[in-house]
Amino acid sequence: MSTRLKTQLEPNDIIKRPKADYNWKVISLLGAGGFGTVNKVIQVNEAGIPINDKEYAMKTEMKTVKKQASRLKIERNVMALFTKCDPQYKDHFPELIDLGQTLDLKWIVMTLVGAPLEKVKQKQFSKSTALQCGLQTMKAIHDFHHMGFLHRDIKPGNFCIGAGAKQDLIYILDFGLARKYRLPNGQVRPPRLKTKMVGTPRYCPRASHRMEELSRKDDFESWYFMLLDFVDGAKGVPWKGKPREVTYALKRKIFEEPKWICCVSTIPPEFQVMADYLNSLSYASDVEFGIFRETITDYARTCNLTLKEPLDWTMEVKNLSMSNQIPQMSSRLPQSTQPMSSAPPSSTPTSMKRRSARIPTSRVVSCDDNRSIFSERNEETSLDRSRTGNSKR
Ligand SMILES: Nc1ncnc2c1ncn2[C@@H]1O[C@H](COP(=O)(O)OP(=O)(O)OP(=O)(O)O)[C@@H](O)[C@H]1O
Ligand SMILES: [Mg+2]
Repeated sequence: MSTRLKTQLEPNDIIKRPKADYNWKVISLLGAGGFGTVNKVIQVNEAGIPINDKEYAMKTEMKTVKKQASRLKIERNVMALFTKCDPQYKDHFPELIDLGQTLDLKWIVMTLVGAPLEKVKQKQFSKSTALQCGLQTMKAIHDFHHMGFLHRDIKPGNFCIGAGAKQDLIYILDFGLARKYRLPNGQVRPPRLKTKMVGTPRYCPRASHRMEELSRKDDFESWYFMLLDFVDGAKGVPWKGKPREVTYALKRKIFEEPKWICCVSTIPPEFQVMADYLNSLSYASDVEFGIFRETITDYARTCNLTLKEPLDWTMEVKNLSMSNQIPQMSSRLPQSTQPMSSAPPSSTPTSMKRRSARIPTSRVVSCDDNRSIFSERNEETSLDRSRTGNSKR
């Protein structure tokens, strides 16, 4: 790489690995998030020749991002723990392959996965695929909790289908807002009295709107909103694109006026059991995901579905381009390039903003309520403290 300030990688950039017998070469852009980009990369030798046929994903973050706000560092710490976890719990996690930094960027390399569910479900899911997505994403969240972490940004953009032969598998991604929820002695960390809103407005739980400390039930509340989105593919959740106050009021209505959601969407009344169960949980509750699984499989049975039906994208894959290229990035960008008040890092360089502004709006499908909020500070500190056993909260 050249020594000029580089805020993001470009195709054909080479990232040198001083003590290794390979370097990384950038192939194409896969996606863009709050603090950096994700690129497809391959391993090359000193002459720039590929040394194998494997492809990976490299996520970067600008070094100008303040240490306390670094999501990549949290992500790296969390992913490093995946390697130690029992194989039965890590099917849905990408593997951390490598990490390092250039003059201007920090980076991690991980397993390359396919398109995000947000993109895949632009065509309405069949009922079986919607329910299977519900089950797989539920298991991924459960396994993540098993590792001792809350995800805190559950949404379709943070789940991707597998690449190639793994396309039946859904991966959970984006651990930059993760937080340890147990003390070293195994007890649930006491909630902080006041926190800031965390997550993505469209999918975040009610507790996040109230700026309360999140817990395992809240990841599942977000999952429930995502399930509603999967099942009612035409409209999605009824608060899509609405201001935050309206979103919060409608989310409350789901739990307080059980029949309402069935009137405004195609959500089956059977799903009310899950909402009632979620509503009965408190901050420190264990979540029995069997209740969700049984509700979904019982409902599938009444629809004569086995939930072994091929997933929609495995049938469409020949026609649909899921090459995970630049269109994904454009689909993730907000209509307006004006940032949300609390969302973007102050260090976002003008060059990146200009680049975003050039993306054609015809491709844009998401609006501001679909982007993560990074307003909480000291996440890195809390994670590190809890890892070293000095956590106070
Ligand atoms: N391992 C991967 N393989 C393939 N694509 C990936 C991978 N990781 C991320 N992506 C793509 O990049 C997009 C952004 O990644 P990610 O969600 O991790 O970044 P982010 O900066 O946290 O984004 P945001 O804050 O908007 O959620 C994903 O939606 C996905 O399309
Ligand atoms: Mg994301």
